[in-house]
Parts: sequence; C-alpha cells; structure tokens
Amino acid sequence: MEKNPSLCFVNGQWVGSRSGASSDVRNPATNALLATVPALEEQEVDQAIAAAHQAFLNWRSRPARERANFLRKIGDLLLLHQDACAHTITAEQGKPLKESRGEVVYAANYFSWFAEEALRVYGDIIPADDPSKRIFVMKHPIGVVGAITPWNFPLAMLARKLAAALAAGCTCVAKPAPETPLTALFLASVCEEAQLPAGVVNILTGDAELIGARLMQSDLVKKVTFTGSTEVGKLLIRQSADTVKKLTLELGGNAPCIIFDDADLMRAMDGILFGKYRNAGQTCVCINRFLVHEAIAADFSRLLCEHSKQLRVGNGADESTDIGPLISDVAVEKVQNLVTDALSHGAVRLTDSPSATTNSRCMSPIVLGKISPSMKIWSEEIFGPVSTITTFSNDREAIDRANDTCYGLAAYIYSGDLSRALRVGEQLEFGMVGINDTAISAVQAPFGGIKQSGFGREGSRYGLDEYLTLQYMSVRG
Ligand code: SIN
Repeated sequence: MEKNPSLCFVNGQWVGSRSGASSDVRNPATNALLATVPALEEQEVDQAIAAAHQAFLNWRSRPARERANFLRKIGDLLLLHQDACAHTITAEQGKPLKESRGEVVYAANYFSWFAEEALRVYGDIIPADDPSKRIFVMKHPIGVVGAITPWNFPLAMLARKLAAALAAGCTCVAKPAPETPLTALFLASVCEEAQLPAGVVNILTGDAELIGARLMQSDLVKKVTFTGSTEVGKLLIRQSADTVKKLTLELGGNAPCIIFDDADLMRAMDGILFGKYRNAGQTCVCINRFLVHEAIAADFSRLLCEHSKQLRVGNGADESTDIGPLISDVAVEKVQNLVTDALSHGAVRLTDSPSATTNSRCMSPIVLGKISPSMKIWSEEIFGPVSTITTFSNDREAIDRANDTCYGLAAYIYSGDLSRALRVGEQLEFGMVGINDTAISAVQAPFGGIKQSGFGREGSRYGLDEYLTLQYMSVRG
C-alpha cells in the first residue's frame, strides 16, 4: 500500500502546506522523530471543507447499499493491515502493541457495524388528526461534518465518528490530535485503497486552534463531533453559536468504581486492572476513584497492590509490555503533581516507589489510600496509572460519593447482588455504568456522558442519529 505519512489527505489527493510549514511527530517512548506533517493554513482548510461539501452532494444521494459497501471495504482493509496499523499507533501513541492490535479491531468493527446500520435509516408515517392528511418523517444526512479526535485512541475515535457520518450520507473533514496524526493518515490511505470517492474523507494536520476555528466558523460545516477535554468542549460550544452548529461532545470523565462488600474480589481483579490501567490510564472511562466498602478495604487494597506491581512497564513496542509511556512530559508532570498534592493532604502511598525505567515517561502503577474529596485527585481526571482508594460504610454514602463530580461519563459497580447493583446503578449520574464489567465500550452500545462529560452519543443506532436531521412533510390528498 502506498502511504505518504508526511502529507495530508484532501479531496482524494496527498497534499502539503503551501507555506512549507510542518510539525514533528515523535515516539513518546524514545523521543525519536517519526515524521513531519504539514501545518495547513486557513485557506487550505477552507479548500478541504469546500471539497467535502462538493463530495457531499453526490455521496448523500448514493444508494445506502453503495455507501455500506465502501464502509465494509474500509473495515476489511483495516483488518488486513492490522499489524502495520498497530505499529503506527504504538510508535506515535505509546500504548502496548497488544492494545494497538485490539484498537484496530475495535475501529474496524465500527466500519462493519455502520455498514449494516447505513441500510436502516428508516423514516415514519404518522397518523394525523385530519383523515385526509399523512405525516411523513424522513431522515437526511446533516451535511459536512468536522471531526476533531484525541491522541489516546488515534484510530478508534476517528473510526467511531467517520463510520457513522459516512453511513448517514455525510462527508468529513477530520483533524487528528497533533501528537498522533500518522494513524489518521494511515486510515486515509486505507480509504484511498478502498477507492472511496474523492472528498468524502479529508484528513488535515496543523495547528489545532486554527483548524478547529475554521471548522467552527464555516457555514458549510453543519456539525462538529469532538472527543477531548471539557475545557476545549466548552470553547467549541461557545464557537458553535455563530453558525448554530450541531455538536457531539465526548469530554472528560472521573469514573468511580464502587466495590461492595459482597463482590468477588478475585474474579473482579482482571476487569479492575483493565478498567484502571488500559492505555496507561489514559482513557476518559478509566477508573479514577475506587470507592470500597470499609469491611473489605484492606483485602481490596492488598490485592490491587499485588496485581498492579506485576504489570510490566516499558516501551509499547516490546511485546511483553503491559503499560506504555504517558503521551508527553507535560502529562507525566500533571500526574505527578496530583500524586504530590494527594500525599501532602493526607493520602497514603500503598505501593513501593516506582522502579526505575529507562524512559521518564513510563510510570509504574501507584496505589494511594485514604483519599478524600479535598484532594485534587478526587475531582480531576488522572489520565495516568494511579489508583486511588476511598472507603464507604453504606450504599447511600457510596452513591453520594460517586456522584460527587462535575463529570458524568462512566461509572462501575462490583457486587455479588445484581438487584443491589441495578438499584445503585440507576442512581448514578453517569451516561454509562458497568456492573461487574469495565469493558463497556462496544460498537453496539451508546457511548457518551452527561453533566460536563458532554452530550450526544457515539456508536450504536443512537450514534447514527447524531448525523441525521429530521424532515417532516404534511401531505394532503
Ligand atoms: C475514550 O477514552 O475517549 C474512549 C475510550 C473507549 O472508547 O473505550
């Protein structure tokens, strides 16, 4: 497969920036330079938007089955190139190869799932009060979509947006995170190999603020879908006002994990380690706060420390690695500051000091006990391999503590009593609740949050609606 990782993909062509400006992409594990990518200017962003608009006029009117065939092809090709794509993810993002391979499958599943859903964009005929009338409801693609994606899942988050948008009949201008553009460009080369019509998918690199602002200002862009921080999400809400643009926002999280005294701790441990340390703790749905019933807190802390210490930390390219580096020095510093703040306010470190690694961005898991709401680590998203433990004495206290956050993305419950877990789960103010399960992300399920974690849903049949508008016709005769 021909690939040009140092060029953007616009209107079916590989293009550079006219100014020649570029930015470096580095491996977070080794700091090695992987590539330079163009820094596009405003005019070049506008050209990409215009190309997407032109392509929309044709793409929207193709039979759904044709669009579905393209989506299926893209998913199949991703699986065919799984290993090469996984190496690209690990090189620029840092996660262990086994997780990168899983991410490719996860992403490919979005294309195959939405290939099926593309065929099921049904409307309604509603009985009217007047017997001579019929109310027809049709669903239309919203138009050109701007997709702004994060560095933590450089392929899957883009796939989740593109697959749904394309299935609905929309075209896309996507801007990957500056840290991880190469995976997005890999996907562009897959779209090219699938012979997707020019302009349907455009992948731009360059200054995040500049590209984001152009997408938000453009009248041709009818919707922007964003995964990233709550801070940037709020900026996009403000920027969307001028063009009254539709938004889907998947923002920060602060996931509690309630461990009841009737939980089977040994059986729970695999899920707990996955929920905490996946992608070195750098996911929006990672467990931020363990809320543990006081009767089992000592046992839980001991088990969590024992299991955390067994995880191998290092370069994600090493097949034996369980936890790769954090994305940047700034990310490491932020996590370390949260730990220092917690310790200075009375938290207790339950794991030994981290073992030295050759790379300063690699952090060994840290388990902290005696966490209280006065600490920053209670209210801020950690985004690192740090487990925090707080105890509770009854269900009401567990619920109140879990809900004590401005975020509402994911929450988890471990209990041997399903009716108790369901009762508590319904009182949790979170868009997603895992019961005896932390692997909650699935193409069939509506991913998204409430409160300051954003709005709108991705994946599932609900995710398709985000790219559709309703038109109703009142028909007499
Ligand atoms: C995220 O961290 O934003 C997404 C994680 C997932 O899809 O599982």
